[in-house]
Amino acid sequence: MNTTRAAAIIPAAGSGTRMHAATPKQYLHLSGKPVLVHAIQPFSRCTFIDQIIVVVPAEKIAQTRILLQEHSLAAPLVTVIGGGRRRQDSVRAGLEATRADTEIVLVHDGARPLLSEALIRRCHEEILQSGAAIAAVPVKDTLKRAGSDLRITATVDRDSLWQAQTPQGARRHLLLEAFEANGDVDVTDEASLLERAGIPVQLVPGEENNIKITRPEDLALAQTLMNNRTAGIRIGHGFDAHRFSENRQLVLGGITVTHDRGLAGHSDADVLTHALCDAFLGAMASGDIGQHFPDTDPVYKNISSLVLLDSVVRDASSRGLSLINADVTVVCQAPRLAPHLPSMREKLAEHCRCSVEQINIKATTTEKMGYTGRQEGISCHAVVLLQQN
Ligand code: CTP
Ligand code: MG
Repeated sequence: MNTTRAAAIIPAAGSGTRMHAATPKQYLHLSGKPVLVHAIQPFSRCTFIDQIIVVVPAEKIAQTRILLQEHSLAAPLVTVIGGGRRRQDSVRAGLEATRADTEIVLVHDGARPLLSEALIRRCHEEILQSGAAIAAVPVKDTLKRAGSDLRITATVDRDSLWQAQTPQGARRHLLLEAFEANGDVDVTDEASLLERAGIPVQLVPGEENNIKITRPEDLALAQTLMNNRTAGIRIGHGFDAHRFSENRQLVLGGITVTHDRGLAGHSDADVLTHALCDAFLGAMASGDIGQHFPDTDPVYKNISSLVLLDSVVRDASSRGLSLINADVTVVCQAPRLAPHLPSMREKLAEHCRCSVEQINIKATTTEKMGYTGRQEGISCHAVVLLQQN
């Protein structure tokens, strides 16, 4: 269970001079929604974020509140405040609006509408570990240095160069310290302030799609990436059944359920977790659980199926796929599973590295019909939806 209080600050008080649009770019639409709404929504879906502070031009506070309310982004989770002249002034205003017991602060540009929840989670975890972190992607192109006459003076070695993105963040006291020390120096991101204060900042693999809308062509690119993102959605289905067996513990969804019998199997026979693993593998077009973890291999004897789930989720993540949601139906005449479902959801969410809201588990009997109805065993169906980051 996460007990650390975390706040997200969304600076969106700029005027978008490089965009040359009549409205500041964060209010322009992508797929029918303002860029700013796209930038906030993934944070609102992260259960470990307790507060979202949106910093906008002072004259747009009332209008933005109404706009965000239309997208269910409202108090108490979301607060809208006025910003300052420079980006760092807006972030500082946001920082001052965080609750005193906030431990982690993440800052994300209101002009970056394409970030994933998985990236927010990665940054949050890295801050918990190392104190300060920033999303970044390696520089791909060859870099040239040139004078104002456009004549190249050098080719810059790109091996150690990274392009900074947001989220960026740190433990709240470190950010406050950094602002206190160097808040007056002009910088373009928070990491620079932390670096100047001598606070180590850790890089977290960012996302190529997590672009910032800066110039007019970026809006068209963001729309194309958004369309592709929908195209990159993958569905997976899993089914498994195990026979009851004497002298075995009944493990379902990673939880031990009190019952007079357990399920037979090479591993802990957690039929629910197996169906979920198969659904993940299905979505990745990567065969099935038997292929990846053969029941002839002694390594998997009595192993917790959560270890298998961890491996499958890691595989998905390394392919840039993150879970949108999973829905599971356990077919079981007895024992009654309803009281155990909340702890199963929590356990599976922890191992799927997602929030509890992304996992649903239902239990049903078959009205005593068939093999599950006769209590010969338990079966389980699972579907997952994965999204290409
Ligand atoms: N920002 C802010 N307060 C400012 C300036 C910028 O909150 N005084 C925000 C922007 O709204 C944006 C993010 O910081 O979400 C990144 O800044 P940038 O891309 O530079 O946006 P603008 O300053 O609006 O654009 P420009 O520099 O082209 O004027
Ligand atoms: Mg700017």
